[in-house]
Amino acid sequence: MNKIEALKSERDGLDVTEDLVRFAREGWRTIADDDKERLKWVGVFHRKPTPGHFMMRIRMANGLVSADQARLLGEITKATGRNIADVTTRQQVQLRWLTIEGIPDVIARLETAGLSSLQTGMDNIRGIVGCPASGLTPRELFDTAPIAAVFERIFLGNKEFTNLPRKFNVTITGCPDHCTGGETQDISMTPAIALRDGAEIAGLNVAVGGKQGSGGPRFATDLDAFVVPEEAAEVCAAIALIFRDHGPREARSRARLAFLVDEWGGERFRKELETRLGRALPPAGRDARGPATTDHVGIFRQKDAGLNYVGLKTPVGRVTGDQLLELARLSERYGRGQLRFTPTQNVLIPHVPDTLLGELIEEPLLKALPYNPSEVRRGLVSCTGTDFCNLALIDTKTRAMALAREFERRLESTRPLTVRWSGCPASCGNHHTADVGLQGCKVKVDGKIVDGVHVFVGGRGGRDPRAGQKIMEDVPCDDLPEVLDRLIRFFPRGERRKEEA
Ligand code: HEM
Ligand code: SF4
Repeated sequence: MNKIEALKSERDGLDVTEDLVRFAREGWRTIADDDKERLKWVGVFHRKPTPGHFMMRIRMANGLVSADQARLLGEITKATGRNIADVTTRQQVQLRWLTIEGIPDVIARLETAGLSSLQTGMDNIRGIVGCPASGLTPRELFDTAPIAAVFERIFLGNKEFTNLPRKFNVTITGCPDHCTGGETQDISMTPAIALRDGAEIAGLNVAVGGKQGSGGPRFATDLDAFVVPEEAAEVCAAIALIFRDHGPREARSRARLAFLVDEWGGERFRKELETRLGRALPPAGRDARGPATTDHVGIFRQKDAGLNYVGLKTPVGRVTGDQLLELARLSERYGRGQLRFTPTQNVLIPHVPDTLLGELIEEPLLKALPYNPSEVRRGLVSCTGTDFCNLALIDTKTRAMALAREFERRLESTRPLTVRWSGCPASCGNHHTADVGLQGCKVKVDGKIVDGVHVFVGGRGGRDPRAGQKIMEDVPCDDLPEVLDRLIRFFPRGERRKEEA
């Protein structure tokens, strides 16, 4: 039995909640290694590069937060987070630099505000990724945010779901622009149309077993099954429990659902799912995903006449507490007090009337978080890197911004281009499905060890996914502008929906 399986069988991760106050009283040095792992069940992560300091990961399905919730995150970030927080590619916010002494109070404040960090790490169902424009965009077949909310109510705080063999990622979207990167998730539900009693109905096709890390990307296997929105949460829960009961647990590197799906094949998996549900599932409906995707950056019309959502680009997900406070203010001044984080680390201000758009785009915050960034900046995503991640080989976020600035200096404009950085093979920055994917490594140059990357190109998600091909190895980061210059100038034109108002 591996170390993590052993600690789970000893005690459920969620039970560590009982010890939080004692840890806070006695200090971080008294927390045993097993308990440091268990703390991840409640969303509290000791960061080895910053001993004695913790990160907390806050879940928000579909990236949805209220102005009050964003204000609280901003206040905590300013008070105890050295004024930085990260927006992640699972639409979550990571609070930084917390000390164990302050964590019980932070958890209590989050709970009061309706936010939760529960089960955001280790062998749990992670933050549900869903279209951040759900309920807003005229493009969608239906709003999937209620499905994610129902599913969360099923598994949050429920010990039936807290001892999975490994992490478990779910995305649900009802929009043809499928911005959720479902192909590399354990469950991917995407929009589809089926015939029932002679009439067309909208629902979701189901694919399972996608991943990026644990030996490289594998795209989710289509189960040839169609579910209506009302049953989607129950189906997600049943799939998670199949994983719990049958997923391989011996080696951590081979424990993702992907390995079970490989062993069983889609057909057997589907049969097991039907047995669990106690009913047959109809075959997949007509795939309603379009050819192109969107990152939601820009100004977009909503369903409701005269209203828009404005998508702002963060610099590789890093925001300050002041910016979170200002976002909260802008959402109340120009919208209806709501914000949404996106899977490409951006943030939307919904419900902005036509009449206020001109004023909003003049707000000083929109210089730092632009709605109209350059194409290279627009497509930029980065994992955490050496700042806080002990697995990181390079400082991805700083490198990513420096490269983007260099290209903005060199090139007047580029075609739409996604450049994504991961600091190590774990691939948290989703670099395998980017136009240009950069994976951190160390390189020896003139006898000195320097930061470098392996370069992948031509990756994409969506209906016809393709993993990027590694075309270069061990490129020193300092040489990247030269090396990528030609590539970026002549990259084939990408397809991204543009419907700016
Ligand atoms: C062996 C595999 C992996 C390890 C050890 C690993 C480790 C980590 C660590 C340490 C962090 C937090 C760093 C920080 O910000 O403090 C992180 C964050 C993250 N990782 Fe991974 N990771 C792995 C695989 C993956 C894969 C395959 C994905 C999906 C592409 C992924 C997606 C993410 C995301 C989205 C975050 C940000 C937090 C979130 O919203 O969930 N990781 N990972
Ligand atoms: S990709 Fe590697 S370096 Fe980046 S956050 Fe994940 S584990 Fe850390």
